[in-house]
Amino acid sequence: MGSHGSFLGCRILVSSMRVNPMRVDLKKRIAVIPGDGIGKEVIPQAVKVVQASGAEVEFTVLDWGADRYLADGTTVPAEGFAMLGREFDAVLVGAFGDPRVPSNIHAKEILLGMRSKMDLYANVRPVRLLDAELCPLKGIEPKDVDFVVLRENTEGVYGDLGGVFKQGTADEIAIQEDVNTRKGVERIIRYAFEFCWKNKKADGSARQRVLMCDKSNAMTHAGGLWQRVFKEVGAEYAQIEKQHMYVDALAMQMVRDPRGFDVIVTNNMFGDILTDLAAALQGGLGMAASGNLHPENTPLGSASRRFIGMFEPVHGSAPPIAGKNVANPLGAILTAAMMLAHLGMTAEAEKIEAAVLAAVRARKTTADVGGTLGTREAAQWVAEKVAEKAAKG
Ligand code: NAD
Ligand code: IPM
Ligand code: MN
Repeated sequence: MGSHGSFLGCRILVSSMRVNPMRVDLKKRIAVIPGDGIGKEVIPQAVKVVQASGAEVEFTVLDWGADRYLADGTTVPAEGFAMLGREFDAVLVGAFGDPRVPSNIHAKEILLGMRSKMDLYANVRPVRLLDAELCPLKGIEPKDVDFVVLRENTEGVYGDLGGVFKQGTADEIAIQEDVNTRKGVERIIRYAFEFCWKNKKADGSARQRVLMCDKSNAMTHAGGLWQRVFKEVGAEYAQIEKQHMYVDALAMQMVRDPRGFDVIVTNNMFGDILTDLAAALQGGLGMAASGNLHPENTPLGSASRRFIGMFEPVHGSAPPIAGKNVANPLGAILTAAMMLAHLGMTAEAEKIEAAVLAAVRARKTTADVGGTLGTREAAQWVAEKVAEKAAKG
C-alpha cells in the first residue's frame, strides 16, 4: 500500500503506513528520510555504501520534506512518529531547509519533532580528525582530535515556548524561553558519564574526562541547575575527571588547542553551535556525523516504550551547492556507519569507517576535503572499497 517508485532498489513509502506485526525475518528496518537540498544527494549515497557492506538491513524511503510540504501541506503525516517507532529500528535522515519555505516550519516539525516527540534526548556528535591535512589548525594530528559532544536534544531554547507581543509596533517584545528540567539535565549528564565510562577513543585508549559547558555566570537559573546536577551525578563517577568551562571560553579553546577534549556535555543550543565549530576541525561540515538517541542505559528511560535512534549528518541542506553533485557524502556515510554500530552491526560499521579513512588519505573525495570527485563518484569509491572488504569477510 502506497509503495512505489525506486531509490537504489529500496521501497518508497509515500504516505501510508506498513502494518506487519508478524515479521519473522531479522533484517533491521531503516526509515530513510533524505529531506531537502543536499540531503537528497548524500543520503542515497550513504544507502549505497550500507548496501555494499552486506549489512542485513531493509530500507524504506519516506518523502517528508519541503517538496511534500509544498505539494500537499504535510510536514509529518498523521501518527508519523508513532509509525516510525512501531515499524522501524532506526531512521536515517538527510537535512531539512528550503528557500521556498522561509518559515522553516517543516524542518521544525519533522526534525525537531523527531528529537523531542520521540524523546531522543542525546544528540551524539563525534569529532574525529581523520587526516592532519583536513584540520585548519597548525600542528594538529588525528590523535589530537577525538572527542564527542553530547548535546541535550529535547529542551533549552528549542522547546518553542514564548511568544511575540505587540508585533510590528515600536514596543514589540519577543520572548524565547530556555527550559531546563531536572530530569532533562540529569539524564544527559548521566549519559555523558556513562558514555565516558563505556567508550574508547579510536586508538583504543580509555576516555577519561567529562567537561560540562554552560553559561552559568550569566544565565544563573539554568546554569545553576546544570552545575548542581553535574556535581551530584559526577560524584557517582569517582574515576572520571570532571571539568567545567563557560561556552565562550570553550569556543576559544576549540580553535586555540583542541587537544585534551574528551567528552563534552552541554545544552541544546550551545551543542548546536559548538558542533559546527568542531566540524571545522575535522575538515568541515561535510565530514561530521551524528546520532540522536534515547540511550537504553539510563535508569530514567522508560521500559514500556520502544525508542529508536535517528541518525543525520551535522550539516544542513546547503541550498547554494544542492543539485550540483559537489556535496561531500562522507558525513552522511559516517552517519550511516554510526547507525549500523548502534544496531549491533559493528563489523559492517568498521568496514565503512575504514573505507572512508582510505578515501580521505587517497584524496578520493569531493573538493571541500582536497579531492576532485563528485558526490556520487566519491561515494562510489567508498562503496567499492567496502564491497572489497565485505568480500574478504
Ligand atoms: P549548511 O550546513 O547547509 O551549510 C553551511 C556551509 O557548509 C555552506 O557553505 C555549505 O555549502 C557547506 N556544507 C554543508 N554541508 C556540506 C557538504 N556535505 N559538503 C560540502 N559543503 C557542505 O548550513 P546553513 O547554510 O546554515 O543552512 C542551510 C539550510 O539547512 C537552512 O535551511 C538550515 O536551517 C538547514 N539546516 C538543516 C539541518 C538539518 O536538517 N539537520 C542542519 C543545519 C542546517
Ligand atoms: C542541527 C541544525 C538544527 C538545529 C536546525 C536545522 C534547527 O542546525 O541539526 O544542527 O539547530 O538543531
Ligand atoms: Mn546545527
